[in-house]
Amino acid sequence: MAMTTRMPLIAGNWKMNLDHLQAVAFVQKLHWTLKDAGHDHSTVEVAVFPPFTDLRTVQTLLDADKIPFGLGAQDLSTHDSGAYTGEISGAFLSKLDARYVIIGHSERREYHAEGDDVVAAKVQAALRHGLVPVICVGETSDDLEKFGASAVPVAQLRAALEGVAADADIVVAYEPVWAIGSGQAATPDQAQDVCAKLRDVVAEVLDADAAARTRVLYGGSVKAANIAGFMREPDVDGALVGGASLLVDEFSSIIRFQKHVGV
Ligand code: 13P
Repeated sequence: MAMTTRMPLIAGNWKMNLDHLQAVAFVQKLHWTLKDAGHDHSTVEVAVFPPFTDLRTVQTLLDADKIPFGLGAQDLSTHDSGAYTGEISGAFLSKLDARYVIIGHSERREYHAEGDDVVAAKVQAALRHGLVPVICVGETSDDLEKFGASAVPVAQLRAALEGVAADADIVVAYEPVWAIGSGQAATPDQAQDVCAKLRDVVAEVLDADAAARTRVLYGGSVKAANIAGFMREPDVDGALVGGASLLVDEFSSIIRFQKHVGV
């Protein structure tokens, strides 16, 4: 399904890196670098996902300097308020003008035992508070061997979308676990194949309009050197970038992928 109207999204998941002072320096440098390069923000959306403790500082900077980056959080609670020590409510994130929240990242699934039920509850929590959930799905290398590339991500997405309204604004990120931080990215063909199947799930569970407008990102060892290949694929609408989103020059080259793709 080749839809050319979806705005590409290049999202930087900083994970547990950069304190709030480092975040300020990073965002300013990235903004200047993109400005110097003449980057046109109306053609590619940029979003950063700092740690919780940086969010207020980054929000203030984006606002004061009119920096057109989207702001996202890396997780949220399934609950809205109450006796949940250490948890962060979606209500707090929307108060900070966060637009996005990553849900179901493989590091949360693995290290915090978040299953499909928790992921689905977090998607509901995000939508309740007007946040766009960036729903992460992906297979481990074991899954890949046993079931092929798409079976696990497809099942994870079906579970995450349970009870989601057809007009909901969501983003899907296909992140093969074996490709995260390994330096071994999927090939553009592999990413296209799974991203197309994930779009089919959106069509089946929500509807055809939702499938046409929902952005499906690829993530896992994305770099300036391989982004163009992914972005040429019709069902890959952007990237969720980890390690390379911490390097100003590298991340700005990824954002400026159109220079290499020629679109
Ligand atoms: P890397 O880009 O470091 O492989 O991380 C991908 C990722 O997990 C983004 O959420």
